[in-house]
Amino acid sequence: MESISHLIKVSVPNYLAGLPIPDSISGWFHLGIRDWFALLPPTALLTGLGFMSYRAFCPHGRPAPCGRINVKIKKDIAKVVDTIDIEDISEKAAFCRCWKTDNWPYCDGSHGGHNNEHKDNVGPLVITNKKS
Ligand code: FES
Repeated sequence: MESISHLIKVSVPNYLAGLPIPDSISGWFHLGIRDWFALLPPTALLTGLGFMSYRAFCPHGRPAPCGRINVKIKKDIAKVVDTIDIEDISEKAAFCRCWKTDNWPYCDGSHGGHNNEHKDNVGPLVITNKKS
């Protein structure tokens, strides 16, 4: 704990005080090669922290880890298309819309785990057959 305290109270301030940061805008034009190299590590650190903060707090700017929605259902075919006759639905059927089910095309409740994990709100399409 003492080493962390020393790092924060002594080492980092001494390091920052030793950086060749000019007092004016025109001072930046008078920096030498050694000065610019001395500024590279803190600049890289600040850039990295800024980028990680952006990624953490701007979810819309975050690229999807993978463009795929379907990661397991009928992966051996080009397009998943299912046809079910309405007469085959006895009273009610719940169809999966989250692509997480193990009982495709029917919902097995797997969307609940997905919603908890990703703070999402997906659920099934429920079709009722009132004629039966
Ligand atoms: S399991 Fe996919 S919507 Fe329920």
